[in-house]
Amino acid sequence: MALLRFSAFWCGTILCLSILSDNLEATPGLLKQSQLCKFCDVRPTNCTGVGRCEAGCEISSTCAHTSEVCVTIWRKKDDNVTMDTICHNPALRLHGLLLDDYNNTKCEMKERKGMGYKFFICSCTYEECNEHIYFSPFSDLLEQVVSVILVSLVPLLVLAVLVVTSFYIYRVYRQRHARPLRKRGQPLHYHDEHANMMDDEGSDSSSTHANNLNHNTELLPIELDAQVGKGRFAEVYRAKLKQGTVVVGGVGGVTGTEQAFETVAVKIFQDEEYASWKNEKDIFSDADLRHENVLHFLTAEERKVHKQYWLITAYHPRGSLQEHLIHHVVSWRDLWTLGGSLARGIAHLHSDRTPCGRYKVPIVHRDIKSSNVLVKGDLTCVLCDFGLGLRLDNSLSVDELANSGQVGTARYMAPEVLESRINLENIESFKQTDVYSMALVLWEITSRCSAIGEVKEYEPPFGKVREHPCVESMKDSVLRDRGRPEIPNTWINHPGIQTVCASIDECWDHDPEARLTAHCVAERFNEMEHLDKLSNHSDEIQYSEP
Ligand code: ADE
Repeated sequence: MALLRFSAFWCGTILCLSILSDNLEATPGLLKQSQLCKFCDVRPTNCTGVGRCEAGCEISSTCAHTSEVCVTIWRKKDDNVTMDTICHNPALRLHGLLLDDYNNTKCEMKERKGMGYKFFICSCTYEECNEHIYFSPFSDLLEQVVSVILVSLVPLLVLAVLVVTSFYIYRVYRQRHARPLRKRGQPLHYHDEHANMMDDEGSDSSSTHANNLNHNTELLPIELDAQVGKGRFAEVYRAKLKQGTVVVGGVGGVTGTEQAFETVAVKIFQDEEYASWKNEKDIFSDADLRHENVLHFLTAEERKVHKQYWLITAYHPRGSLQEHLIHHVVSWRDLWTLGGSLARGIAHLHSDRTPCGRYKVPIVHRDIKSSNVLVKGDLTCVLCDFGLGLRLDNSLSVDELANSGQVGTARYMAPEVLESRINLENIESFKQTDVYSMALVLWEITSRCSAIGEVKEYEPPFGKVREHPCVESMKDSVLRDRGRPEIPNTWINHPGIQTVCASIDECWDHDPEARLTAHCVAERFNEMEHLDKLSNHSDEIQYSEP
């Protein structure tokens, strides 16, 4: 009996222990208890998947094994939302997933993708820890925001990419079709005739406004040398346009490097003369202006740091026609070269056709005088200083026309300009004022030509170089007295001079309509080429280098 009681005691103890051992896990000094979890069926729920939700049933139960943790699964298939609370051993997969958050004390939902429907799951290890479940307050909202952003931004981005690409293609197209701008380091070996050919080769009207403004933030590497001129609005400098370094051979075969450069002219306008810079730049930017008797324009720059505006052009070391005539007596041949090229330059400016016959905008200079004409090495002229130039195109505003009454230099102003009675209705009237001024310049050249006989010191028309007659005194001479510079009879012994003087006389006629055109004067010069053969005074005075 005692043995039976002893056996019963041990059996009871062993049974108790075995039950206990199911609920308690032996740890050093501690046994783990089975987890108490919410244990509801899969059931419909109001939980929207945002914020905090409840398990939604009253049933709590200890898990069958100590290894199990509390798990909640939230699903949304179409519009059907369900919640499921279970016990599960995290060492095993559940719906193909391993639980990685089972040590949490709160059940915090995480979305698992790839189920074919919305699937959120959380696991935790604490008493009834899956009673309350927590969704990220922003998860859905964030997703909605992201999708709205994507939906609205993607088309915008695509549009932006399309616009940028089209703009880029357009720029490349324009660059290919416009007159090529000289690149850095590319030498300035331009030849004006060639330039004209390039103009006419396959260029369309879009190239007529080829804008040579240097938009690069990188300005041309230019070093100013010396001031060579000063006008009403700007100063002109001779400058070095650096071209990089070149290897040079030295004495005894020793080589070194040298800075290569080209000499250019830089016309510098201060801030307050912006309008003048802009006008001249706009005139120069017309590719159709290019001509061997028009100053070759390279580029325009805004030198913001010094609040200056630059025009960079070819440099002509002989300087202005006025300087040239002050220091040199010219031969008939020189007169013919200087006068003919001057007339051709103005004729090109005034013309509504390029040499190829394509339409071009006629331009008037409005300040033709011997100091606005430069002399090239071959004694041909180039027109410069287009600060008062006017494009006679359809875009000419009423304001521009109204303000175009009296501009220029009083000494060279045509009678109708002096009395501000220019016919604004007819664009030819502007050209006729240029022709009047050209006549005075032709007279200046003739007055210094050895073919006229005795040649006096240079004097500008209507007075001395240093005097600057005002409009009122010019009105007295030109309008009241109908005065013009003198053409003595002694001049016209030379047949060429005779023809030139006849043209001068027709060009400074009081009646603008009676004047010759620049084109006609240029043709007359062409016809005069051989007149020096008949002269006693031909080329006996040699041209001397400055
Ligand atoms: N004076 C004004 N412009 C000039 C130029 N381009 N070359 C030489 N002298 C000038």
